[in-house]
Amino acid sequence: MFRRLFDRNKSDGPAILGTEPRATVGLRVTYVQCANVRDLHPGEIKPVRVRGGHELALAIIDGRVHAFEAYCPHQAWPLKWSEAETGADGTPNLICGLHGWRFCLDTGVTIDPPSMDDLGVYPTRVTDGVVYVGLPGVM
Ligand code: FES
Repeated sequence: MFRRLFDRNKSDGPAILGTEPRATVGLRVTYVQCANVRDLHPGEIKPVRVRGGHELALAIIDGRVHAFEAYCPHQAWPLKWSEAETGADGTPNLICGLHGWRFCLDTGVTIDPPSMDDLGVYPTRVTDGVVYVGLPGVM
């Protein structure tokens, strides 16, 4: 029973899927391994360090893994201390824990306050319980 709970994607549990943010469609990326699905939990933000030392954060919203910069573009607050949720319009949102800026994780655009610095977002894939994030360029 315990194994079934944490072995999603390898059992008949709810499948966790990747994402392709609109902000990254058409960009050339290289997918690198960054986490195991079993280490991600809805409602929590997981900081990860990927190849090259790049720091990102991951969140599961509505069964999809979202990847984004680890620090807020406003005053560099660690976004592991933020909230991920589905917005009123159905888009995945992130709310910074320091001043409450709200970002759309599909576009990286700052929703509230509008027209401020955007958040870097990255595509993800999930294969056999492993999360891969797409980094710009070819490595
Ligand atoms: S540091 Fe994130 S909103 Fe200010």
